[in-house]
Amino acid sequence: MTHDVENESAPQLSADEAALLREMPELDGVGQSRRTFMITSAVGSLGLFASNLLAKEAALADLPLAADAVSAPVKAQNVVKVALQINGAPQTLELDSRVVLLDALRERLGLTGSKKGCDQGQCGACTVLVDGQRVLSCLTLTATLEGREVTTIEGLAQNDQLHPVQAAFIKHDAFQCGYCTPGQICSAVGVLGEARRGDVSHVTADVRKGNASLSDDEIRERMSGNICRCGAYPGIVAAVQEAHSGRQSAQTWGFATETQLASVRKEDGHETV
Ligand code: FES
Ligand code: FES
Repeated sequence: MTHDVENESAPQLSADEAALLREMPELDGVGQSRRTFMITSAVGSLGLFASNLLAKEAALADLPLAADAVSAPVKAQNVVKVALQINGAPQTLELDSRVVLLDALRERLGLTGSKKGCDQGQCGACTVLVDGQRVLSCLTLTATLEGREVTTIEGLAQNDQLHPVQAAFIKHDAFQCGYCTPGQICSAVGVLGEARRGDVSHVTADVRKGNASLSDDEIRERMSGNICRCGAYPGIVAAVQEAHSGRQSAQTWGFATETQLASVRKEDGHETV
């Protein structure tokens, strides 16, 4: 797109501006220069934005879509070969050295349980476990994982048996939309490992003694990197606490009995035969 700045009509001047120009003719042309500068800057910025967009599209075009991820050829640059375990299965990936684990899981292996929330380490939706410790997969280069064991949300259950943290999340209704939930659960599994090792946190009362028992405050602090836009935090803390301590706490919901349902229908004037 071009813009013919020179042929623009002359600006309309107020009486004051016209009087000023009569007294100081050297100012004539300043407004035109300013407008020229503004327009040139705007066109330049748009050009920069467009070129960034095109560069991003070109880079993403090198990655196959998840649907045909397993068989599609990968046209990548700076290719590295990485052999690692993912959910107990050996995988050898050849990929661009800049590909992060989250993209490798989602775009190359079709493991879409790990979610991309912010893509910059701030929301925790992409949390997975590497050698049992939680990491943000959006900030982890796949090329650094040679020989490591990666566990994602897809690998936590054993056959039909849910991981205790998964079961506790269901029991305590610890999610609403579920977008953050895979990251929350992987993070919680990592937190349980930290407790087993006695790792301390920012709220541990005495760091010399270590910390094997998780109070609710410990859970809140350790899970604080996992954001839940739906605000399911009370259920999340209850679920992690139960998976940690084994203490059964009451679930926050229950199925209504037929008697209760009949009474509600009656109150609402919808009594049926
Ligand atoms: S997507 Fe990784 S922290 Fe948000
Ligand atoms: S359940 Fe919706 S963001 Fe956490």
